[in-house]
Amino acid sequence: MTEPVFSPSAARYDSMEYRRCGRSGIRIPVLSLGFWHNFGSYKPFQEVKAMAHCAFDSGICHFDLANNYGPEYGTAEENFGHLMEASFRPYRDELFISSKAGWDMWPGPYGNWGSRKYLMASLDQSLKRMKLDYVDIFYSHRWDPETPIEETMQALVDIVRQGKALYVGLSRYPADKAQEAFSYLAEHDVPCLLYQDRYNIIDRAPQCSGLIDLAKENGVGFISFSPLQQGLLTGRYLNGIPADSRMARATSLREDVLTPAMMDAIRGLNSLAESRGQSLAQMALSWLLNDTRTTSVIIGTSSVAQLKDDLKALDNCYFSEEELRRIEEISAPVQLKTL
Ligand SMILES: NC(=O)c1ccc[n+]([C@@H]2O[C@H](COP(=O)([O-])OP(=O)(O)OC[C@H]3O[C@@H](n4cnc5c(N)ncnc54)[C@H](OP(=O)(O)O)[C@@H]3O)[C@@H](O)[C@H]2O)c1
Repeated sequence: MTEPVFSPSAARYDSMEYRRCGRSGIRIPVLSLGFWHNFGSYKPFQEVKAMAHCAFDSGICHFDLANNYGPEYGTAEENFGHLMEASFRPYRDELFISSKAGWDMWPGPYGNWGSRKYLMASLDQSLKRMKLDYVDIFYSHRWDPETPIEETMQALVDIVRQGKALYVGLSRYPADKAQEAFSYLAEHDVPCLLYQDRYNIIDRAPQCSGLIDLAKENGVGFISFSPLQQGLLTGRYLNGIPADSRMARATSLREDVLTPAMMDAIRGLNSLAESRGQSLAQMALSWLLNDTRTTSVIIGTSSVAQLKDDLKALDNCYFSEEELRRIEEISAPVQLKTL
């Protein structure tokens, strides 16, 4: 037998907390790692590998992907496939890996939205890129207003029956459609494992729409993405726009979000974090984890140093009433309440 190239820390499960996904047998780490940015073709593979190894060594065994993560579309999944070959293959049964389809992926009428044709073909492509026989969870990445919800949900059910995914999830569904989808899946014995949405100190949409409670009532776990609002809820933009930042790359985070009100909120939250002995990124993550309805938060990172900083959030997830009140007061002027 050949020695594995990668030898993860024997203590990797010692300091991570694992929470149960709704009414299921599955627990996932409270911090999960997302491959949306910084894991595709623009990033040297050595850096991708270093971040993924650091995560796994620290107990992060859930990796969140989608067909179109990169950038370039598909390249984050390709790099995950390289990781499987380079290091992770012997640890496949320790990993919980997701993929998704629902946003634009390839040209023409079959490479977008929620048809059975798109979901089935996309997952086959993802499995090839990631060099996997199955994913642990496959998501419908967004609600499609033009495809009957029964068609999208039946495709998810059949994907599980085919053994290509063990569980299914939903992302970015309006509350009424999420309820229809949860019910359909439960009635077909493939209960939804996780509902995924953007949720953080600034973006309160899933709280305001009732989705977080709805997921709980349906026995579905809630997993938050962009917990740092793509880097706004960190020290990254306190003194301008760093050249190597997501905002400077002008992909998904625009400069015009840095309004005077937003800068006031970021500075105020940063001071509060300092008084708690945390970085702003750590406090933003701790705030989410303080709510036990949150199963996990999917962090993004562009370096091992950021990842290590984020991991320290687990050291202090307790907030006094006064601290929670201050967070509401400071963030109120910039809170987003709808999708
Ligand atoms: N379901 C969906 O529709 C959907 C949509 C979006 C995302 N997601 C998932 O959620 C994951 C996370 O999203 P996200 O990347 O937007 O998450 P995020 O955690 O809100 O933002 C990550 C960015 O914050 C900055 N950062 C992280 N830690 C830091 C630290 N300690 N100090 C300073 N800056 C720090 C980095 O910015 P720089 O790059 O500037 O260094 C990093 O790229 C994605 O990878 C994906 O898996 C899902």
